[in-house]
Amino acid sequence: MKTIALYPGSFDPITNGHLDILERATRLFNTVIVTVAVNNKKDAVFTGEERVELIKECIHDKEWAKQVEVNQFTGLLVDHAQKMKADTLVRGVRQISDFEYEFRMALTNKRLAPEVDTIFLMPDEEFTFISASIVKEVAYWGGDLSSFVPSNVAKALKDKFQDKTE
Ligand code: PNS
Repeated sequence: MKTIALYPGSFDPITNGHLDILERATRLFNTVIVTVAVNNKKDAVFTGEERVELIKECIHDKEWAKQVEVNQFTGLLVDHAQKMKADTLVRGVRQISDFEYEFRMALTNKRLAPEVDTIFLMPDEEFTFISASIVKEVAYWGGDLSSFVPSNVAKALKDKFQDKTE
C-alpha cells in the first residue's frame, strides 16, 4: 500500500461526488491530502479558507477522516505534491468527456515531475453527473441541493447566493 496521495481540485465547493472519490482513495492510501487549488486567475465563489473549512466540516464524522488532511495551495500542483511528500495524485473521472482534460493534465504533471503518478478513480454511478459548476447553477436559482452536496455546503451556498436572487 502506498502511503501519501494528494487529491487536488478547486472544490468550489466540495460535492457528494468528490466525497465518494475521497472515501475510495482512503481505501487505497494510508494518508490522503485533499488540497484546494487557490488560483487568483479563476473566479471562485468561496475563498480558499472557506473551501478548506467546508471540506473539514463534512468529513469530521466519517470513520476514514483520520486518514485525511486538508490544505490549500497556490502555484504548481507538482511542487505542492513534492512538498507534501506525495508521490500519487488522485483525480476523479466521471465521464469520457472528462478524460481528455485529465489526460493532458496528467501528462503535463508527469513531464514536470516524472516521479509523481496520477491515478483516476470513478465515482459511484449516482454521482457521475454532479459537478461543482452544476451545483452552483442550481444554488443560484434556489434549487434543492440535498442530493448534490452535504448539508453544511448547501447552507453555505444558500448564504452566498441569497443576496443575488432576492
Ligand atoms: O477541480 P479542478 O478545477 O478540475 O482542478 C484542477 C486543478 C486545480 C487540479 C488544476 O488546475 C491544477 O493542478 N492547478 C494548479 C496549477 C498547475 O499545476 N497546473 C499544471 C497542471 S495542468
